[in-house]
Amino acid sequence: MGITDLLLLGQERDLKSERGVSCDGALPAASDPDLVARAVAAKASLGSRAMILGHHYQRDEVINFADIRGDSFKLAQAAADNSSAEFIFFCGVHFMAESADILTTANQKVILPDLAAGCSMADMATATQVDTAWQVLTKLGVAGKTIPITYMNSSAAIKAFTGKNNGAVCTSSNAARAMRWAFEKGEKVLFLPDQHLGRNTAVLSLGLKLEDCILWNPWKPNGGLTDEQIKKAKVILWRGHCSVHGRFTVENIKDVKIRLPGVQVLVHPECQHDVVSNADVVGSTEVIIKTVKDSPAGTKWAVGTELNLVQRLANENPDKEVVFLDKTVCYCSTMNRIDLPHLVWAMESLVGGKLVNQIKVEAEVARYAKVALERMLALP
Ligand code: 13P
Ligand code: SF4
Repeated sequence: MGITDLLLLGQERDLKSERGVSCDGALPAASDPDLVARAVAAKASLGSRAMILGHHYQRDEVINFADIRGDSFKLAQAAADNSSAEFIFFCGVHFMAESADILTTANQKVILPDLAAGCSMADMATATQVDTAWQVLTKLGVAGKTIPITYMNSSAAIKAFTGKNNGAVCTSSNAARAMRWAFEKGEKVLFLPDQHLGRNTAVLSLGLKLEDCILWNPWKPNGGLTDEQIKKAKVILWRGHCSVHGRFTVENIKDVKIRLPGVQVLVHPECQHDVVSNADVVGSTEVIIKTVKDSPAGTKWAVGTELNLVQRLANENPDKEVVFLDKTVCYCSTMNRIDLPHLVWAMESLVGGKLVNQIKVEAEVARYAKVALERMLALP
């Protein structure tokens, strides 16, 4: 592990302690045989006052209680569209709950059942680092023609920076549309914080060359780049990645094609560029689900995304063969922090009159982050 990774780990820990990682000790035991019944009872007692949103990467025990299942885009839309539920239990990760808070009305409260459910990728870009990068672009006279696009997987502060500087949020479902939109408004894109989604979108969807993209390392002066490189680049990619999707390799693809003749490889665009380039189909979480669901019986799929979802796809499509692309299993550990004990604890606390783990974005940050989120929701 290099010094940069160690610094990133330290930074992640700081962010986690800022968020607070504990609940108040009344967490039911995972072995409690009444857990499902308790969840059913608490949900029934809250009735239409509460809505449960569940990201597709959540555990089955949690997703079974979701009123709406979706990828991050669909869940952001669901939060924006619902102004009646007073409480929104967000079963996903911190940045998604922040976005839900920003998009809902002032009277609605968003609850993240475990505050430790963060996202290591989102933690790879801090507001201070992004401000420093922007100062460099300003000094070089290119900030005025650069449009920031930030992936949904970023803090509210980064979304606010994006909103203030004429940019938009994107998700894996609409990254290509967002990048095209940005190039209609400016000459360069600063893509935060996932280098792989940014590179895959620029090269495979917009037809740019790999050489048009440069990588900004937030831990090095000038991003580790020369002034000339920064001035020449069309896309400035932030050096962030997903530790789950970044694991898949071209070796995994070669291996599964030998093990399962006729298999098609389907991956999320957060995977590395060579993996995405060698896959048969690439798509957001919703596209992955639809592709498998709509494929003919008997087809075989090796899927490169989070394991909870791949296992669910295998169970829900018994007429097809669905396998995980990697031979070793790997869940998103932070998505998995939300389990049934935490959901039951949060719901029962509310039934008892106590609001726990509310996610509340500071008003000024929320104002500008909302601008960037609404630009995304309005993309054609
Ligand atoms: P989606 O935008 O596909 O929901 O992905 C979110 C995420 O965290 C992927 O790792
Ligand atoms: Fe973050 Fe990756 Fe987990 Fe998605 S899968 S929440 S990007 S760490």
